[in-house]
Amino acid sequence: ETVNFGLIGLGTMGAALALNIAESGYPIAVFNRTAAVTDDFIENAGALRPRLTPTKSLEELLAAISAPRTIILMVPAGQVVDQQIEALAPMLEEGDLIIDAGNANYADTERRVRDSDGKPYDYMGIGVSGGEEGARHGPSSMAGGTQAQWERVGGMLEAISARYDGAPCAALMGPGGAGHFVKMVHNGIEYADMQMIAECYAIMRDGLGMEAGAIADVFEAWNDGPLASYLIEISGKVARATDPIAGGPMLDAIRDTAGQKGTGRWTAVEAQHLAVPVPVIEAAVAARNLSARIEARQRGADAFGAMPREMQGAAIGTELLEQALIAGKILCYAQGFDMLAKAASEFGWDLPMAGIARIWRAGCIIRSEMLNDMASALEAMPGDNLIFAPPFSDLLTRNSDALRKTVTTAISAGIAVPALASGLSWFDTMRTPRTPANMIQAQRDFFGAHGFDRLDGKDAPHGPWGDDG
Ligand code: 6PG
Repeated sequence: ETVNFGLIGLGTMGAALALNIAESGYPIAVFNRTAAVTDDFIENAGALRPRLTPTKSLEELLAAISAPRTIILMVPAGQVVDQQIEALAPMLEEGDLIIDAGNANYADTERRVRDSDGKPYDYMGIGVSGGEEGARHGPSSMAGGTQAQWERVGGMLEAISARYDGAPCAALMGPGGAGHFVKMVHNGIEYADMQMIAECYAIMRDGLGMEAGAIADVFEAWNDGPLASYLIEISGKVARATDPIAGGPMLDAIRDTAGQKGTGRWTAVEAQHLAVPVPVIEAAVAARNLSARIEARQRGADAFGAMPREMQGAAIGTELLEQALIAGKILCYAQGFDMLAKAASEFGWDLPMAGIARIWRAGCIIRSEMLNDMASALEAMPGDNLIFAPPFSDLLTRNSDALRKTVTTAISAGIAVPALASGLSWFDTMRTPRTPANMIQAQRDFFGAHGFDRLDGKDAPHGPWGDDG
């Protein structure tokens, strides 16, 4: 069989992706900087071995691939990608294509695509989601590139991808960095989804005093309802797990400082650049950052006293909590898709809004049943905010009171619920015909003569601030 594909970087994700590509019918040559990793990989490849060509140098790798050659990079995002391109570039020929399938910052991908101009090789950035399991058996792939590039590799990407009702979860998002941009927003939503689930967990654990096993029961039940999703499913499994070292619930033995590689933070940063409000995602990033300050938090508890956290009186039940999370989730996705729409108009991309929801239905980390309805809603009204699209407008009407009750009850007990609360504040603002921004405008005019518009439309260059202003 002719080998047209090569892959560099046999870490967890790279190895899984190489096996998936081979299994989907595409022979592939592989290379890893540490040769022993390649040997191990081949040794454990089982029945897929005949479709895998191990190589020990970049020269050998390129010699093992026939034109048209596609080389997939699965190396850590950042400098390593640039070094890899630099090492490859002199050896590449007309028609060669480099694909970065890692979690690159979309701006880096834009730059690398520009740098490939006038060089013999082509360059694509593709966002791949789904963790190790997804990479191995079916990820969701968000491709950035030209239509011609998509025609070249789309077949392979669809073949390796997850499927929802038979539809492959892989699509062309737009040119240049569009694929990595969409993947970045996916991860921002992922952070927010995870944070809102964690806040519900905090309410159950501390506010309602529930044991991990009982919490697992709740997540399992939720996974049979409107919240059915991968993240709810694994949250149930996580809450169910027993600590193999000390016994007892695994969750109770895990230090409460959340790590991050940065894609969620990038989403918040880019949202600020685009001036698009995504407060639920921003709150999720801030919550991770705050969680990392474990010593400062202990100091705070000593200095100011820890809040009781136990919910007094009319505590909320887990049914109300489920409704609150449904509302929170809709608000979070409404913000995420709003960000995608803003980016599309700002960057001149024709992002397939409904298509994005469709390829997120399976394979990726945020996959959920709700995304199927979101795809339909965005199909019907692609440019509109999800909160105005049925069935989400109806769901919000029915569940936003539960979100309010949950947030106020949690806050009264001293349980911080920043993501749920930010979602609610965004929603409250979205239904406020008159905000206090008239005060901001007056202040700006006072100290900087910035001017303002009058509600009655009359001309008013400035306010009557006198000598002070
Ligand atoms: C995915 C995930 C993945 C991500 C991390 C989580 O879609 O498969 O989003 O791409 O890198 O698993 O990222 P953090 O380390 O930042 O939490």
